[in-house]
Amino acid sequence: MPDAHYELPELAALYDIECGWSEDREFYLQLPGSPPKAVLELGCGTGLIARAMAGDGHDVTAVDPAQAMLDVGRQSPNGDRVRWEQGFAQHFRLDRRFDLAFMTGHAFQVLLTDDDVNAALDNIHRHLKPSGVFAFETRNPALPWERLFEESEILQAPDGPVPIDWRVHWRRGEFIRFNTHYQFTDGERISESTLRFLPFDRLSEMLVDRGFEIEHVYGNWDRTAFDPEHSAEIIFIARAKP
Ligand SMILES: C[S@@+](CC[C@H](N)C(=O)[O-])C[C@H]1O[C@@H](n2cnc3c(N)ncnc32)[C@H](O)[C@@H]1O
Repeated sequence: MPDAHYELPELAALYDIECGWSEDREFYLQLPGSPPKAVLELGCGTGLIARAMAGDGHDVTAVDPAQAMLDVGRQSPNGDRVRWEQGFAQHFRLDRRFDLAFMTGHAFQVLLTDDDVNAALDNIHRHLKPSGVFAFETRNPALPWERLFEESEILQAPDGPVPIDWRVHWRRGEFIRFNTHYQFTDGERISESTLRFLPFDRLSEMLVDRGFEIEHVYGNWDRTAFDPEHSAEIIFIARAKP
């Protein structure tokens, strides 16, 4: 079950204001190369990148379990050029194969168990053409995310400003539990989240076990190599072995 900030329409409507265009989105937009490629986004949310890729002439399918996020995506620019599907990365089924699958906005970190990660990797592999590419990122657990997550900001929404703050409850092993508090004029909405921070070695092992060959691992959106101690991101570009 996705978190409230993806399921509640009034929170989904704020997503693109909170998480707009940025260098990570530019990174993914370049990945398919020259159009038209068959591209699949998993955990697409409002499909900011999926819609931009469709605008570039790619044939894009975007999958997410949260109806409210899909609804925002459909009604946004280029939304009519994307094929939207409701589903989980572990379970969706489409009767076609893709050149590129990607999962971004740290959506991979919602996969909390080894079974979920393996089911998603198997499912993605099944939906790739022979030698198709899977690209995704996860935050490097070496950084003190429990402190970095403690933030607040004021979103400038169409109906007026919405103050938001993030409160971390705990960090235990590979998991961080936090709540996002949204202050609307008619009251507070709280979204509860847990994310998994898998270490590089373990995730690399899982990818190889599920039939992927790791081509690149970057530590940031400028394509600098992953540095286990300092990089904020672990960005994998992996190819499905036929
Ligand atoms: C932080 S948002 C990222 C959205 C989009 N990829 C982006 O970059 O803006 C995480 C998304 O993952 C979705 N999600 C939650 N559980 C999922 C699952 N098991 N499989 C695929 N997506 C999932 C949520 O509904 C949400 O839209």
